[in-house]
Amino acid sequence: MPGKIVFQVLYTSEAGYAFTRDDLALLLAGARRRNAAVDLTGMLVFAQNLFLQVLEGRAEDVLATFARIEVDSRHKNITTLFRGNAPAGRLFAEWAMGFHLIADADDLPAGLVRVHERINLAQFDHLSALEFLSACQRSLAPS
Ligand SMILES: Cc1cc2nc3c(=O)[nH]c(=O)nc-3n(C[C@H](O)[C@H](O)[C@H](O)COP(=O)(O)O)c2cc1C
Repeated sequence: MPGKIVFQVLYTSEAGYAFTRDDLALLLAGARRRNAAVDLTGMLVFAQNLFLQVLEGRAEDVLATFARIEVDSRHKNITTLFRGNAPAGRLFAEWAMGFHLIADADDLPAGLVRVHERINLAQFDHLSALEFLSACQRSLAPS
């Protein structure tokens, strides 16, 4: 949405149980379908049972979606890193919800300074989380 104000929510959470790849695929399929319907874009990363997600779009759509996500029993301990207008506009415009699974150190996106071999999605602040999500997005094939 060029020229329009983009609202963004960024959070981390903890999976409520041991997610399988099938669980993740199911979650993602539903998210992409609903997001596409309201022109919501973003990126989701899963590593060591933690989620990191950014949602971007019109404020009312992002907030309505996040309100559903917050009460979803599939995850817990939701920590909001940022909720507000995104100064840089949409960063994930190509993705109704990009997804990157980090199963081991080889899955870490290129171009990141590796402080630890194991990534902890709960360690990020707003800007480092966005940088990490952007690096994950760059590692995805174009949609
Ligand atoms: C980690 C995680 C990420 C999710 N991401 C989205 C999303 O991007 N968009 C979305 O519509 N639902 C997402 N969901 C699913 C919502 O929590 C919710 O189940 C879905 O929107 C349907 O809502 P309803 O059951 O109230 O109809 C996500 C759930 C989890 C656990």
